[in-house]
Amino acid sequence: MSWRKQSILSAQQFTPTDLAEILEMSRALEAMLRTRRNLKLLDDYILATLFFEPSTRTRLSFEAAMHRLGGRVISTTGVQFSSLAKGETLFDTLKMVESYSDICAIRHSVEGASTLAARSIKIPVINAGDGAGEHPTQGLLDLYTIHKRGYLTNDKLSIAFVGDIRYGRTIHSLLQLLSHYKVQMTFISPPELALPDKYRRLLDAAHVAWQETTDIAALREANVGYVTRIQEERFTDRAEYERFKDAYIIDLELVNSCRKDLIVMHPLPRLSEVATDLDNHPAAVYFEQAHNGLYVRMALILGLLDVPLP
Ligand code: NCD
Repeated sequence: MSWRKQSILSAQQFTPTDLAEILEMSRALEAMLRTRRNLKLLDDYILATLFFEPSTRTRLSFEAAMHRLGGRVISTTGVQFSSLAKGETLFDTLKMVESYSDICAIRHSVEGASTLAARSIKIPVINAGDGAGEHPTQGLLDLYTIHKRGYLTNDKLSIAFVGDIRYGRTIHSLLQLLSHYKVQMTFISPPELALPDKYRRLLDAAHVAWQETTDIAALREANVGYVTRIQEERFTDRAEYERFKDAYIIDLELVNSCRKDLIVMHPLPRLSEVATDLDNHPAAVYFEQAHNGLYVRMALILGLLDVPLP
């Protein structure tokens, strides 16, 4: 079954054919937006954005994507739900959202929240980040960014994930998408923040070549460095977070000692892990990466609503 008209809950749901289609649609939309500001394809459609955890890029780019397609947006942010086990509140909110909108994007601190949401309502649900679980649309825009560099083909991709690999949901989604391509993966993290077992099994089952280390020197082998913030909000022990927060710092000096074709990616927001002295270096693609989110989210919204490109 194609990805169209579904919900987007996990990166696992996409086939290589789906991914090729999403990358091509994103490219076409990017080209169209060079000459037009509004594609006017979704008049009469409403997107609801429900963000129960902090967000800047994800929510704004979903909303900008909907506006650029000519659709409308309703949104709510910051409401705290104490637990999904108590259920009623989120369920009731969702029933309302279902009656007011045609598609919704949800961010919630509980892993699996968007899957529960998709079971509760009939409109397509997009997982915009569920706790330390996944963030599939970020994974797709990361994939698009790598694809635009030409690194997805010709056995060219050697990616090093750096930082919080345990709680970093964007990594969990991107690694699943990349497992469909010829890729070499390296995971660089403190042992306590290493890749969860679930993803180790998944990579092994997909016969992906991967390794792990605590040594940042391994970044020198890679042509993509995917750096992440230590996810402070997932730690129960503050001292533990303090111990890891400056574990790795990617700066100009380090990047200058790496491969000439290295690109440095980051889902943002960044703290100290990517030094600002890197921002004007050609390897720094994190702002471009965030910008790409607009085109990819436009493609996803169109696909889920099953509205064709002109
Ligand atoms: C990421 C997230 O929310 O998981 N941000 C984003 O959506 N671009 C990464 C993070 O918060 O560290």
